Amino acid sequence: MSPYTPCLFYGLLDTTNIRFSSTLFIFFSILLLIATIFFFYAKQKTQINKKTKQLSLPPGPKAWPMVGNLPEVLQNKPTFRWIHKFMEEMNAEITCLRLGNVHVIPVTSPEIGLEFLRKQDSIFSSRPFNIGADLTSGGYLTTALVPLGEQWKKMKKILVSELLSPKKHRWLHGKRAGEADHLVHYVYNQCMNSMTGGLVNVRIAAQHYCGNVIRKMIFNKRFFGEGMADGGPGVEEEEQVEALFTILAYLNSFSVSDYIPWLRRLDLDGHEKIVTKAVASVRKYNDPEIDERIHQWMNGAKKEQEDLLDVLITLKDKNGNPLLSVEEIKAQIVDIMIATVDNPSNAVEWAIAEMINQPVMFQKAIEELESVVGKKRLVQESDLSQLNYVKACAREAFRLHPVGPFNIPHVSISDTTVAGYFIPKGSHILLSRQGIGRNPKIWEEPLKFKPERHLKDDGSDVVLDEPNLHLFSFSTGRRGCPGVTLGSAMTTMLLARLLQGFTWSLPPTMSSINLTESVGGLSLEKPLLALARPRLAENLYTSP
Ligand code: HEM
Repeated sequence: MSPYTPCLFYGLLDTTNIRFSSTLFIFFSILLLIATIFFFYAKQKTQINKKTKQLSLPPGPKAWPMVGNLPEVLQNKPTFRWIHKFMEEMNAEITCLRLGNVHVIPVTSPEIGLEFLRKQDSIFSSRPFNIGADLTSGGYLTTALVPLGEQWKKMKKILVSELLSPKKHRWLHGKRAGEADHLVHYVYNQCMNSMTGGLVNVRIAAQHYCGNVIRKMIFNKRFFGEGMADGGPGVEEEEQVEALFTILAYLNSFSVSDYIPWLRRLDLDGHEKIVTKAVASVRKYNDPEIDERIHQWMNGAKKEQEDLLDVLITLKDKNGNPLLSVEEIKAQIVDIMIATVDNPSNAVEWAIAEMINQPVMFQKAIEELESVVGKKRLVQESDLSQLNYVKACAREAFRLHPVGPFNIPHVSISDTTVAGYFIPKGSHILLSRQGIGRNPKIWEEPLKFKPERHLKDDGSDVVLDEPNLHLFSFSTGRRGCPGVTLGSAMTTMLLARLLQGFTWSLPPTMSSINLTESVGGLSLEKPLLALARPRLAENLYTSP
């Protein structure tokens, strides 16, 4: 060993030591830095949390110990009218009730609504666990009623990219067009029916058009059975559509057991029994179709996709296995049906009712339809972008007559502050569709049906969507409606066909349509009955 070796060795050791200690130094410095950042972050967060918790909840009625405002909810039915009344009395656009342990936060202001759905979307994107959602979604297997999590992500992705994409929308155009033709055929047959004297039940026509469109898109069929000779719904479709509306009426309907879950097994208000029966009525027709189709794909009898059910069955995961279980497919189809039937039919029934009382609106709509479409053919989806007045009528119906008082609840996943108030984790945010659409700070003469208010000076396109929440149609944010294109097409087509195909007037015994809302909801109190006369050549009313 050279005399220098140790030196070199030591030297080497030394260098290694220096390198080692400088590495250690850097390591500890980084660790210290991380610890310091973490300490200050944690301290700041605690301060924020403390500050947040010091803020008060939005104003609201005084709550009882334990049960909160449930006694008032039980005393003041329907709950939504009571809530809107006390918000008006308190002159508050955001308020807070406590139902059991749950803070329920109704909101009637678009600005505050956007704080929830846009600015703090990631905090307010969950949904409540409740009886209606549980039963309807087959145990939280679907999209609309499912709390935030992997299942919601999976199903929403499938809806957006596989079922409601622009490509699939075009693919399904023929089915929607067929149902639009069938609608005028069915209404025409009622006009011609001497027994009814030309009186048409607009609610039935509108609801069944929606039911037919979605059934055709999913199952490639309009009727589960034979239907009626005049093109109307058969007993099967009547039962199914009625059941869908029953489910909608009982979803998020302030059932006591939704806030005190251990009461569920007693089913005190009977909601569980009603929703269970309604879901069974819907699935009694759907499920055998789904089972049969799966069988056809398995035994090779089916090889080509013809409708959305085929799409759902043939989706594959990355290993080539079915992406969806049979139960997921069955539950998701109920979810889609519920999402599709109510909004377009309710808006169009209200629009026709309002227009009968102000016939000058019919003239304006007809002038537009004559100039864009003429009288020699029926209005088509390709015309809809040019029908601004017709769309303004539909939009005005969404504003003034939303299908339900509140949006589906959004649930917060952490404590936060909105509009200067403390909003605790687990709060249910109820954006008031009614309160936003009729907010006098946004709309002049808010209770008047005035489609012109939606027409733009530059003549640009009127759309039914309103991401700024000045009216509540499709909502916004990650829980926003994925069915804007389909929902807009269905609503506008339904209204445009009824306006182009028929002249609408009052039944002989009436001087005006009674525009009273139903007691328990926002639909017309009684289904709209109106006199319809065909406007076009007879050959245009034949069904496909
Ligand atoms: C005019 C027709 C329609 C209107 C006005 C409408 C409106 C809405 C609204 C207000 C929401 C709740 C958004 C929120 O929670 O913030 C929603 C959610 C939803 N809509 Fe629609 N919708 C319509 C048609 C459709 C159609 C045709 C489909 C699909 C077939 C559909 C599927 C859904 C789904 C899956 C959700 C839940 C989204 C989620 O939770 O992530 N909707 N819709």
